[in-house]
Amino acid sequence: MGGYKVNMSTLDRFEIHEHDVLVIGAGGAGLRAAIEASANGVSVGLVCKSLLGKAHTVMAEGGIAAAVGNVDKQDNWQTHFKDTMKGGKFLNNYRMAQLHAQEAPERVLELERWGALFDRTSEGTILQRPFGGHSYKRLCHVGDRTGLEMIRTLQDKGVHMGINVYMECTITRLLKEDGKISGAFGYWRETGRFVIFKAKAIILATGGVGKAYKVTSNSWEYTADGQLLAYDAGAELIDTEFIQFHPTGMIWPPGVIGILVTEAVRGEGGILRNKDGYRFMEKYDPERMELSTRDVVARSIYIENKEGRGSPHGGAFLDISHKGAEYIKKKLPSMYHQFKELADVDITTGPMEVGPTCHYSMGGVKVDADSTATSIPGLYAAGEVAGGMHGANRLGGNSLSDLLVFGRRAGLYAAEYAKKNKATLNINEDEIANAEKSIVVFFEQDGGENPYTVHRDLQELMQNKVGIFRVEDDLKFAINELKSLKERAAKVKIEGSRMYNPGWHMAYDLQSMVIYSEAIAKCALQRKESRGAHSRLDYPNTDPEHGKWNSLVKKANDGSLIVEKSPLPEMPGELKQLLEDKKVAAKI
Ligand code: FUM
Repeated sequence: MGGYKVNMSTLDRFEIHEHDVLVIGAGGAGLRAAIEASANGVSVGLVCKSLLGKAHTVMAEGGIAAAVGNVDKQDNWQTHFKDTMKGGKFLNNYRMAQLHAQEAPERVLELERWGALFDRTSEGTILQRPFGGHSYKRLCHVGDRTGLEMIRTLQDKGVHMGINVYMECTITRLLKEDGKISGAFGYWRETGRFVIFKAKAIILATGGVGKAYKVTSNSWEYTADGQLLAYDAGAELIDTEFIQFHPTGMIWPPGVIGILVTEAVRGEGGILRNKDGYRFMEKYDPERMELSTRDVVARSIYIENKEGRGSPHGGAFLDISHKGAEYIKKKLPSMYHQFKELADVDITTGPMEVGPTCHYSMGGVKVDADSTATSIPGLYAAGEVAGGMHGANRLGGNSLSDLLVFGRRAGLYAAEYAKKNKATLNINEDEIANAEKSIVVFFEQDGGENPYTVHRDLQELMQNKVGIFRVEDDLKFAINELKSLKERAAKVKIEGSRMYNPGWHMAYDLQSMVIYSEAIAKCALQRKESRGAHSRLDYPNTDPEHGKWNSLVKKANDGSLIVEKSPLPEMPGELKQLLEDKKVAAKI
């Protein structure tokens, strides 16, 4: 390592911004949090790694789940709660699932008041469609572009409220004073210059971890940033073993592998068949068929392939053409164009080829259900970066409602915290020196590898050994390999300068992905059962004893990653009763 020296005499050479609340991440959760904090009278900064509007939220295409009961009048929050808990195989934080089900309808109506244009019923109310694991038609939608419309609406609202937006900025470290949040350190991706944000409270809303896998619907931004910022600052992670493989991603041609094919195709009547034309969901879930939960459908496609009945490129055929061209172009316009332009397939006349793609992380930063607070005073987390809400498997459409419900709560509680916290913010110069050193080090390590090589090896490993189906030997192998990947990642070598240098960005992102992957693999090894998105071939059954705890990930004093079991909180009697109540219909 070279002798990198920081000028310790002053912080003057850094660009410094100061806000009461700093939101990191500008997808649905970050935008909703920033709007709420701003509405509560505090100054808000919103930092995003990419351009404003470019968020994985847009990949929730088929709709937002909320029991508004426009189409199926008997729907209510109780049934939504029950569906969510059953879908999550009862590992969900019950309080989060309750708040989510209760508050989602108002968050959707609020979005509509702010200008979101949902599809309509003949009575002029918001139209809802069916999705896997939901007992009723519950998904409020805008064709197959719901996430996009949500981001557009929130972005307009936030910008008009005067929120300060800092684009193309990567935060690499959270700063603390006396154990409490005092700010964040990062760099501008364009120029490579460093920047400090002083903040009384920080909300993490950085999304998921999909780029640790080879086949994913996630774009380059999703590299476990927030999870690692929190973990390094001393917060705990939970349930990291639960990674959702969306059953339907594109699988051909090679350049588009992993791109999402919305569940709305199945919601609108799409049928899955194997190479022999057999509608194989009849075998795996005869009652719900294509509208089974994602974990079940993804595994079914995988098994059909393993047993030699897959489609030519290793997936299944998904056919909606029986609905007719007019219907398809109206209900699924993006899918029509996506297949026409990217694969030269006309989905109005024939089937698409699809296969599982890594889509979502159910685990994440451990938070308090009501406030979204982590264990670090002043640090909050909302959206995919936070764990607990979805348990072992998320139902489609529940992410968009999660973002709004808990984004709003994060903004509210962070603003309240910041208002109470009158202390002057001091930045510790040693902490800045360390943060600076840890990110420029990649320019100074002679003989290190290219970060893209290490990333490719990580993705192969996670895809093949910690993917849809897992076994002990593979997990142990992966944990061992991850040790060496961690060492290789720490030693990568970057050429060139800090300006416009994507290799440098990858070098940093890699550190987070490798450690989060270790958390996934270690928790997967600890959970000796199959539950939701976690399938162990060597433990194929769900074990009631394992349903009593969440996995917990902590950073030990020596810097190593340790996993433990954390008992599930006791559910109040009235919610328990709901889960047993036969009248609250839930067909899972
Ligand atoms: O299939 C989809 O439209 C994705 C929705 C979601 O992940 O919630």
